[in-house]
Amino acid sequence: MNEVKSAELMVDQRINKDNILNQVRVFAPATVANMICGFDVLGFAVEAPGDEVTMTKVKQLGVRITSIKGDDGRLPLDPEQNTVSACAMKVLEDLGLAEEFGVEIELVKHMPIGSGLGSSSASTVAGVFAVNALLGNPLTKEELLPYCIEGEKLACGHGHADNVAPALMGGITLIRSYEPLDIVPLPVPAGMYAGIVFPHVDVPTRDARQLIKERVPLKDAVVQWGNVAGLVAGLYQNDFALIGRSMQDVIIEPVRAILIPQFAEMKAIAMSYGALSFGISGSGPSVVAITQSEAVAKTITIAIKNHLDKQEIDCNTYVSAVNTEGPRLLD
Ligand code: HSE
Repeated sequence: MNEVKSAELMVDQRINKDNILNQVRVFAPATVANMICGFDVLGFAVEAPGDEVTMTKVKQLGVRITSIKGDDGRLPLDPEQNTVSACAMKVLEDLGLAEEFGVEIELVKHMPIGSGLGSSSASTVAGVFAVNALLGNPLTKEELLPYCIEGEKLACGHGHADNVAPALMGGITLIRSYEPLDIVPLPVPAGMYAGIVFPHVDVPTRDARQLIKERVPLKDAVVQWGNVAGLVAGLYQNDFALIGRSMQDVIIEPVRAILIPQFAEMKAIAMSYGALSFGISGSGPSVVAITQSEAVAKTITIAIKNHLDKQEIDCNTYVSAVNTEGPRLLD
């Protein structure tokens, strides 16, 4: 108890009330969780899409969401149910400021919900990063991360960190351990691009997680941990061939691919146009082609979109380098 009190005191000492701002605008990025072979332990942030939050300090206590745009009315305005507000509120409470002022949040979603691109984590990270910025950055990103993991629990019932960690830290992150939390930033090879296609079918993370078998055959585990280790080695060595052959998933993809229309066809197209690897982004339905150039990523997304158009499946496409910065202040 004493330890907690002294920790609180230390945080309290980091808050200079003169540094508290009236308003901040923040962008937080979408993410590609799992990086195909690293279920729940690997992920990277992208430049776009992402979420935008405007947070304003107000006299009225509590956290309120005053507007949400770009969600087609799908997200709750109830501040306890929406991750953008619930996690920001917890930060305010833990810093002992919840009784001094409140905040209002405007959320603009520039990205699809339920897409496998870390939509809820982009909102969570935007909210938590915004409240910290508003307060003059009393907490480090490492200290903000547990709040974001709680946000994932609220959004989908499970506190995985492979979206929120890269969204908050930027770059490519490895969650080496959840208990205790041990996050390892990994090098980002220059020229690595993601070509992402989001086919318009709904695959809620909660459902996609329920499909996964509890037990994994040892022979599959051997393949998968070889791939995870190979990917990490490839990132350190800037070895795109090793990265490509390591980003293969023999455990999750065979189960989840059935939820994604034209998955095998999209994979064949991506590989024929020079992808290093291709797989599901997060829990899907978005798919991702990893490439060694922007041009190849663009060609692949166009070719897949043309194919889906013929099947009368709408989609969004995104081409992005890895975002090494994570969330940022706008204006
Ligand atoms: N690792 C998670 C999953 C990411 O695949 O279920 C989902 O956001």
